[in-house]
Amino acid sequence: MKRFFYLLSLTFYLLSCTQQPLRSPNGAIQVNFALSETGTPRYSVLQDEDTVIRWSNLGFLCEEQSLLDGFGLLGSNQNSCNEQWETVWGEEHFIVDNHNESIIHLQHTSGIRMDIAFRAFNDGFAFRYIFPEQELKQLTILDEQTEYRFSADHQAWSIPWRTEFYEGIWTKAPLSQKDTMCSPITLELANGGYAFVHEAALIDYPAQNLYMQDDALRLFLTPWLQDGQPTPVKAYENLPFASPWRFVILAHNLPEMTASRIMLNLNEPCRIEDTSWIKPMKFIGIWWGMHMKSMTWEQGPKHGATTANMERYMRFAAEHGIQAVLAEGWNIGWEDWKSFSFTTPYPDWNMEYLSRLAQELGVQIVGHNETGGVADAYERDLDNIYAYHQAHGIHAIKTGYVSPIIRTLDGLQFNKGQSGVRHYRKVVETAAKYNITIDNHEPVMPTGWQRTFPNLMTQEGVRGQEWNAWSTDGGNPCAHVTILPFTRIMAGPVDFTPGVFAFENPVMPGTRVHATLTNQLGLFVCFYSPLQMACDLPENYMKHPDAFRFIENVPCDWERSILLDGQIGEFCIFSRQERGTDNWYIGAVNADEPRDVTIPLTMLDKDRTYAATIYRDGEQADWQTHPYDYVIDRATLSASDILRLHLASGGGFAIELCPLK
Ligand code: NOJ
Repeated sequence: MKRFFYLLSLTFYLLSCTQQPLRSPNGAIQVNFALSETGTPRYSVLQDEDTVIRWSNLGFLCEEQSLLDGFGLLGSNQNSCNEQWETVWGEEHFIVDNHNESIIHLQHTSGIRMDIAFRAFNDGFAFRYIFPEQELKQLTILDEQTEYRFSADHQAWSIPWRTEFYEGIWTKAPLSQKDTMCSPITLELANGGYAFVHEAALIDYPAQNLYMQDDALRLFLTPWLQDGQPTPVKAYENLPFASPWRFVILAHNLPEMTASRIMLNLNEPCRIEDTSWIKPMKFIGIWWGMHMKSMTWEQGPKHGATTANMERYMRFAAEHGIQAVLAEGWNIGWEDWKSFSFTTPYPDWNMEYLSRLAQELGVQIVGHNETGGVADAYERDLDNIYAYHQAHGIHAIKTGYVSPIIRTLDGLQFNKGQSGVRHYRKVVETAAKYNITIDNHEPVMPTGWQRTFPNLMTQEGVRGQEWNAWSTDGGNPCAHVTILPFTRIMAGPVDFTPGVFAFENPVMPGTRVHATLTNQLGLFVCFYSPLQMACDLPENYMKHPDAFRFIENVPCDWERSILLDGQIGEFCIFSRQERGTDNWYIGAVNADEPRDVTIPLTMLDKDRTYAATIYRDGEQADWQTHPYDYVIDRATLSASDILRLHLASGGGFAIELCPLK
């Protein structure tokens, strides 16, 4: 018997010696795999022949068995993929998935089989654990001990893991000085490049979080709770099962990083057969008034969601080509934020009348389902709720939870724990049956699952515009909007709600939007969301109808997207081509320091000239002193032109370029 084990270990050892490195299609990324002497799975990564990730351990601690070492190699398979797929909506119309894959088959001394699939892309790498069908039927995961041992103490942008709903200010510090971190994080590498660390295809597992220990960036999973307290258990899995993908984008510069589509490529193709009902759109809403305290969600003299008010908003939307109107506070339950009904309007909301009017005007109503964190009651009633909305012609719903610990079918649980993830998935899958798209507030961080269920259109998971209405710290600093495109928004569409046109805050004068008016326009291009809310009140928009024209025109579904320039925390300039046309839009947002920028228009078609409308900061513009100072220029431009523009403190610009015949 001893001899048998000796031979077995020798075979494992020999096999491990013969593992060829996995290379990306262009050879730039190399992923090595080996088992340590004690049988711990390990990997390392090189980019352009330089080590980016030193040997890092992989494995699990499970209630049934420790799977941290004691593995032997059974063999491996190699695959490669080079295909293009079409998005239902997105920053790109077509996405290329070009990678090489190696699936390593391992067996533990206990007999448990575990595979690790590695993928090498030209712009990064990914891996996931797979437990194939076997005698063992269940695993109780106490810990996933995945490491990323970066080769240097890089600067990291992150928010702490307990940041409620991910609504924090992102800060930069060397990895070694970071406390716990939510996923994703963005690294400024010592060699001038960038890395983005996140997960993909989170569908039945807790969200990953990160922390530093002994020189290694390590993963820790969000725990299950019992009686409101964390338990040692992180996930319950039935076999066969595959973990979410762990991926790292490795980019030489920010345009490369923001162009990476690794996360979407790691998600399964669309499962909705007929997607014709899934339509990107802009919307306004009865919303900002509540945050600015000129209206209320609950009934009373300042009730926002009344039939008359909604009619006014809907007529405004129809006149200005805005496709939809959100109404919050239309349903009973806002008195205690707990006993919501999603099928019972307040008496001053006439659903029948408004749904007829919506049809007449060709404007949609965006429904609102604030659960107050009572997710179990919501989940039990989903079919009924969505059937009600569908019957009233409502095809988009904003959901909300306002609590990082929600009551799921499993009791009080972290919204980003396994039970929360299952709840959000159930919502999206059920909504799809009723042709309903979802804008989810207080979500688990997006991981690209919108590829599989594109009715999950946008999510919050960000310190959004609303903080500029009521945050006691004065509102989002200018730099905030120049960090998000390189951090949170890399994880997926964001419902930030751009477009404030009135900067005074009568209720909290010390709190306000740290922006100029054209910064607010620039956000419509810099912040990607296929359901994009223009958040301000119609009367505020009508004080600047010439600038509002940009919001009327800017699309929210794109053919191509290109980061033209930017620096995390300093400024960001995006250009995007409207899907199906040759119209281009450029948006810029700036932090505190005024700056001049040059923009070559090389992305334009060389054989055409374009009518350009440029909405830019005026001479005096400054978010603190002159937020309303803007200028609108018109010009004829072509691909050989170079624009020189000034960005004020907290400033920005927005440009529309439409080809001339
Ligand atoms: C928090 C959401 O982020 C916000 O948009 C909404 O208005 C309130 N909850 C009420 O549902």
